Amino acid sequence: MNNMVNNMDKKNQKLLEVKDLRVSFFTPVGEVKAVGGISYDLNYGEVMGIVGESGSGKSVEAYAIMGLLQSPGKVVGGSITFDGEDVLAKSEKEMQAFRGNQVSMIFQNPMTCLNPVYTIGDQLIEAIRCHKKISKAEAREKSIEMLKLVGINNPERRMNQYPHEFSGGMRQRVMIAMGLICDPKMLIADEPTTALDVTIQAQIIELMKDIQQKTQMAIIFITHNLGVVAEICDRVTVMYAGKIVEQGNVEDIFYRPHHPYTMGLLRSMPRLDAEEYERLIPIEGTPVDMLNPPAGCPFGPRCEHCMKICLRREPPQIDLGNGHTAACWLLVDEAKRLAKKEETPNE
Ligand SMILES: Nc1ncnc2c1ncn2[C@@H]1O[C@H](COP(=O)(O)OP(=O)(O)OP(=O)(O)O)[C@@H](O)[C@H]1O
Ligand code: SF4
Ligand SMILES: [Mg+2]
Repeated sequence: MNNMVNNMDKKNQKLLEVKDLRVSFFTPVGEVKAVGGISYDLNYGEVMGIVGESGSGKSVEAYAIMGLLQSPGKVVGGSITFDGEDVLAKSEKEMQAFRGNQVSMIFQNPMTCLNPVYTIGDQLIEAIRCHKKISKAEAREKSIEMLKLVGINNPERRMNQYPHEFSGGMRQRVMIAMGLICDPKMLIADEPTTALDVTIQAQIIELMKDIQQKTQMAIIFITHNLGVVAEICDRVTVMYAGKIVEQGNVEDIFYRPHHPYTMGLLRSMPRLDAEEYERLIPIEGTPVDMLNPPAGCPFGPRCEHCMKICLRREPPQIDLGNGHTAACWLLVDEAKRLAKKEETPNE
């Protein structure tokens, strides 16, 4: 696995750099700013979780990186740099090579991605031969090896079966094999387990964790489940209404959240470390109407701490140290206090 060696060598170096990315959908009733200027980096071998409620722009942002945005969606600003290359400048042909060789994506519903009329083996072999110049026999061998890696018993026999002969969990394993088959430097997993029952979900997460540790590939893990984030991610990005509202390592986000939306999200989502009887408290109010977003802070209308300035001006991203940032006016004083502490360390 060439990329695997690369991944190990380059640990702690930047692999993906997203800067002020903006994506809009130009609908008959107006422009929907689905992603409104987000920036983040991902290092080689790093696993980042993206969380946020439905409609916050998690998938749209991932599609933009993969070059899979469908009309009327369009990247209207910003840049995406992957391994030093400008992704947005690539032609469709270059993007096809990019998908598969460099990055791949696992989608939420495996049935929509697997073709029911071809055997699993044919689909895996095709996926490899699309991107790598190897013989059919070699591709077959590699496919069997990948099925083994994702925990499918009797892979030689399974290669000749059709998707409907696999259970939901098994199909999701095949999708993971498909995502990994060309040995990508980065994998985007968009809610890869939500369609599965809890026990199978846990097995798939365990499997992905295991594969990540073996290959050291970078992963962007889009999920509604904070338990999954705690289990597999190094860092977390919290999105709300197409913006990043908070970002940091898992410990900072879970134990020292600073943005009111993140705090609400933590109270409303299941966690692995929660007591079974702990109540989940939904965040009051309705998500933002993306056609007519509010002025100022997008979370303003639902925020219990909302101040006058929040309704007028968008809050800046505040650096809280250790790669932890949050966009909230409440933190402006906190930022001043942190800066003062740095200037006078003996105080
Ligand atoms: N085809 C489309 N036409 C118009 N707007 C769209 C279209 N697809 C997405 N959007 C807009 O983009 C926003 C973000 O959608 P996205 O699918 O990224 O949400 P998400 O965070 O992945 O949600 P979920 O958790 O439900 O998957 C939506 O709120 C919607 O307003
Ligand atoms: S900026 Fe204001 S409205 Fe937005 S989260 Fe902070 S306190 Fe709430
Ligand atoms: Mg989505």
